[in-house]
Parts: sequence; C-alpha cells; structure tokens
Amino acid sequence: MEAARVEEVVADFVTLKRRGVNLIGLCPFHNERTPSFNVNPARNIFKCFGCGKGGDSVTFLREHENMSYVEALRWLANKYNIELEEVEQTPEQLAEIQLAESLYIVNEFGLQHFQHQLFETDEGKSVALSYFKNRGLREETIRTFGLGYAPDQRDLLLVSARANGHDPELLKKVGLCSQDGSRDFFRARVMFTIHNLSGKVAAFAGRTMSSDKKIPKYINSPETEIYVKNKILYGAHQAKRAIRQQDECILVEGYMDVIALYQEGIQNVVASSGTSLTEGQLQLIKRNTNNLKILYDGDSAGIKAALRGLDLALEQNLNVKICLLPDGHDPDSYVQEFSGEELTQYIEANSKDFILLKTELLLEETKNDPAKRTGLIKDIVASIAKIPDPIKRSVYLRECSALLEVPEDILVSETNKLINTNLRKSEEKAARRPEAASDSPPSFQGTEWPTELPPMSSDTELPPEQQWPEHIEQRPVAGHIEAFQEKDIIRMLVLYGDKMLEQEQVTVAQYILADIEESLDSFDNPLYGRIAAECRDMIVNGQTFDQHHFIQHDSSDVCELAINLIATPWEFSPNWEEMWSYPLQNQKMPELNFDLDMKQALLRFKLHKVMKMCEMNLNRVKKASQDGDDAEMMRYMKIQQKLNETRNEIAARVGTVVLPK
Ligand code: CTP
Ligand code: MN
Repeated sequence: MEAARVEEVVADFVTLKRRGVNLIGLCPFHNERTPSFNVNPARNIFKCFGCGKGGDSVTFLREHENMSYVEALRWLANKYNIELEEVEQTPEQLAEIQLAESLYIVNEFGLQHFQHQLFETDEGKSVALSYFKNRGLREETIRTFGLGYAPDQRDLLLVSARANGHDPELLKKVGLCSQDGSRDFFRARVMFTIHNLSGKVAAFAGRTMSSDKKIPKYINSPETEIYVKNKILYGAHQAKRAIRQQDECILVEGYMDVIALYQEGIQNVVASSGTSLTEGQLQLIKRNTNNLKILYDGDSAGIKAALRGLDLALEQNLNVKICLLPDGHDPDSYVQEFSGEELTQYIEANSKDFILLKTELLLEETKNDPAKRTGLIKDIVASIAKIPDPIKRSVYLRECSALLEVPEDILVSETNKLINTNLRKSEEKAARRPEAASDSPPSFQGTEWPTELPPMSSDTELPPEQQWPEHIEQRPVAGHIEAFQEKDIIRMLVLYGDKMLEQEQVTVAQYILADIEESLDSFDNPLYGRIAAECRDMIVNGQTFDQHHFIQHDSSDVCELAINLIATPWEFSPNWEEMWSYPLQNQKMPELNFDLDMKQALLRFKLHKVMKMCEMNLNRVKKASQDGDDAEMMRYMKIQQKLNETRNEIAARVGTVVLPK
C-alpha cells in the first residue's frame, strides 16, 4: 500500500492538476464542471468534496474500474513490479473457485452460441432478430445486453458444446441441458443473459415468442454457485456507472423494461425479475446509492404487497420513491409509445414518496370503514418507526398526521412505543451475544469504581408521550447517535491504531482498548461500538491493523466513516492556502501529536460515560425516594457519591469544570 501512490494510480484515469500540496481534477464518479475531486499524496487517499466518494488506490480501482479487491491488488502489484505472494488455498477452496470458473466458462460458451444463432443464421435473423427489432431494440443494445436465440432443435447446443470439448456434467449443472443430458434446456426462445455485477455470465432467461398461454413466458437457469437469485439484480452490471453518477437507482419489473429504458438513455435502471426485493439486492443498491425509485405499472396487482416489502428498504435508510405509470403501461411500452425524455418528465412529475403514497393508497381503501382505520394507522406507524433518521421520521409524522387527520402527538407516541419495542428487542439480542469476558477489575487509572453499580440500562421509565423530542437526542434508533466522545476514540483507533507509544511501548490501539475494556460493550453508537469490538478481537488474536483495514472494510458504513475520519484534517478549509498563503505542511501535523491527543480523547470518553451513569443513578435515587424505599435510596445515594467523586477526578484531569447538579 505504501508503494501504491494514489496520485499515480488516479492519474492513470483522471487528469490531475497540482493545487498546493494536493492534486485536483474533475470527479470521475459524478458529473461536474468545476473540479472538487482531491488527491492527497501525503495521506495517500483521494476524496471528492462534491459527491463524497473517497478512499485509497485500491478503493479507486474497485470503484472506477469495477475490480474486485483481489483484482485491484494484482493490478497494483503489476504496475509497481511487486511480486504477489498468494496464500495457498485449501483443496476445498480451490475446488470451489475452479468449479465457479468452469461454470462461467460454460455459460460464456452458451452466450457465444446464442449470439451466433441470433446474428449469423438465417433462421435467427428472420425469427429472433426481427422479434427484437420489432420490439424497438437496436443492434447495439442487443449486443450490450447479450441477447440471443435458441432455435427449436433438440440438442443443437449440446452437440456444439461437446465438439468444443465442454464437459456435459457442467452443462447440466448450469442448466443449459436437461438433467439426463440428452436435450437442450432452452429451445424455441429468445435469450436474455443475466450478468453478475462484474459482467460475467451468471445465468440465462429464455422468453417464448409464442402467445400461447400454456407455454411458460420465461424459463430461467437454475440456482447454482454462481447464480444466487436473491443477490442478483438484472442489469446491475450495465447500470452501475449511471447509478453512481446520478445517485439514484430506478427499479422496474422486467428484463424488457431495463433494456428499453437503457436504450432510451435512462441507464440507471435494474430489475428484480418479478420478485419482491430481497435484502441482498438492497445491499447491492445501497453500495451505489441511497436513493431508490420504483417504477411500476399503475394496475400492478402486487403493488400493495410490494409496498409492504419495502419496509426493508426503509430499515436500510434508503430514500424510497414510487412512480406509478398510467394504466395499461409498463416502462417498456411507455418509452416505445412516447420517448425516454417523456418518461423522464413523467417520472419527475409523478414520483411520490413511498410512505405518503402508502398512506394515500390505504386511506382510499379504508375510506368507508372506520374500524379499519386503526389498522391502517398502525401499518403506517410501523413503517415510519423503521426509519433510522429521527429528523426524517419527524417530517413524516407531521405529513401523515395531516393526511390521516390524526393528531401528531398520537402518531409520535405510537412511533416511540414501537421504537422502544424494537430497541428492546435488539438490545436483548445484543445481550445474548457471547460476552467478551474480562475478569480483571476495571481500572480507571487508579480511580476506583463503585462496585455496587447496577447494570447500565436505559429505562428511564418515562411515559412514551414524554419521550419526544428528548427521546431523539438521547436514544435514537441504531446508527444515528452522534456520540462525539466515542467517535474520537474510533478516530484514534483508525488513524493511529498501529502507531507505537514511545513511553509505554504498546500500540495506540492496545493502549486504548486496555484502558476502556469494560466500556466496549456499552457504546451508544452501534457503528462505533462495532468497530471498537472488532479492534479488540483483532488485538486479542494478535492481528495488527492500520487505516487500510478500515478503508477496505467489508461493511460500507465502516469504509465511509474511515475515509471521512482520515480526510477530515484537510476538509476544514479547502481554501486554507489562498487565505493564509502558506501551505499546510508548515503546520504541526496532528499525527505528530497523537500521544496527547489520544489520552485526552480517552479522558473525555470516560467523563462522558461517568456523567451518563451519574444521571442514570440519580433517576434511581429519585424513584426510590418517590417509592418511599429508604434503604434502596441510601444505597443509591452512596453510589452517587462515588460516581460524583470519580467524575470530578476525571474532569479535573480533562481540565473541564463540572457544575454540581
Ligand atoms: N418473469 C418470470 N417468469 C415468468 C413471468 C415473468 O421470470 N413466467 C419475470 C421476468 O423477470 C420478467 C418479469 O418477471 O422480466 C416481469 O414480467 P413481465 O412484465 O411479464 O415480463 P417482461 O419482461 O415485461 O416481458 P415482455 O415485455 O416481453 O412481456
Ligand atoms: Mn413488458
């Protein structure tokens, strides 16, 4: 990673100009006229201030060239003449990879065969090519999507595959021939190729050209190691770039819809192939954009079922909009009758927010049935409660209150009840997780902990109505707690985790994790908590890690956080040099100061935790006093005293004055 200079790698694809210590250029990930794409050689990362994309040279290759992680490393090794030492695989792993590779090879042969039949034979040209052309497709489009033709012959593909040395067993496995190995599986059909995200042939679908209702319209390849249906979106390979550039993904139902829209210039489009969205598919989308727009036939029967399935998208914090087409039209027929531009205009004018649309549709349905209204309200509230972002939630609550003619505070309290239930459920789940046991007494650097402290819990026992909006600030749903003391700890782990502390002769990560071990499972922000726990596990297992580990993390939220943490020091003032006319390099860099920085961060973190415990315990004192339980009250008062002492001691070391309550 040190050899891989980000400025050199990026410069292979983007024209860069020097601006002070950084290089800038036009961002390749979104459309722009003035450059906001920054490359920082000192930190060896890039970051676009326009669209937010950022990372190291591996990230760049993965995103820009659609390479896998391993492909990116090979590319870099080749560029810098570094010999790659590849870990030896177990025989099982090797067999698995070889099987997948050979399945792709057979499928690739299938594609060549179907294309040959379509373009090079008289029958193909007159039957299938003309079918596609009648449906408005141009030859270029037909090639882009790997469309083909399977003639009505018993074993045309089989014979040709054998002649080319392909193993009949593999043909069976990918479903190109019947299970007894005697007939082709796809016959008398026009063929659609289903690519995986990186463009390899994962499967096929064959459409009959007959309108006989007894013949199934589509038949599909079976699921295999390389075709896992709920993880593939049709068209994703072709749409990927446009989805990123437009920061939006359009979802349609059918293969033909994807192809027709793509041809008409609407290229950020994928299809779920007739099923409702799965979590795996949502994650595919989420990797590229947070904005999902669903384009359905207005008369689609499954629309309400589909709407219900979309709560899954809300949980992932996707912004979901829905656009219903005029009766009798699907996206394909709409662009054929009008044009891509007209469809774009139609979408612009008719897209509705998912929750509001759901409210309207259900309202319509329960118009004359007040008893059903209750169920409707619960349904809507359940959707809103799934949204992790409290601000977004409150906007919906206001709008739905008007639509449903229900007072806002009732909706608010209903939502809070559900959020609390969901939260309790996820806490219970977390509690069942195997505890990373620590027998050693917690040490706050010489400050003794009150031993009697009951387990931390969040039940402040307020009636739900009173938990809004304070509730938002204290305990919003997973992922959106801006606990900056925790973030600071994570910042130190990510930026300097592998740096050696001269005096202590341990790494920053070892120091931090030993110091706050007992708090590791009580982070308020689940993302920060996850990262801290992962760091602990790595250290326990004797693994080391640096920035690169987080930038290339499997979870995209970790990557995003890491790159933002790393980019922050130069995000403060992009115009710094113009304003002060000296380069940042003359400043004392924070990385030279990490020792002090880290110790301060740890103190602030502890102070924050202790103050929270003080507050919680104070509530217990109050409750005991209200209940008239004197013994209990005395017990909690003692604890309070200990906590206050601890708090003051830490505060004195941070240099913060804590006012007595
Ligand atoms: N589908 C399927 N099997 C079927 C019918 C439909 O797998 N027997 C899936 C296909 O992925 C199809 C999608 O559901 O693309 C939507 O169905 P439909 O609208 O009927 O198909 P279109 O792709 O629009 O096909 P066409 O326009 O050629 O009728
Ligand atoms: Mn159609």
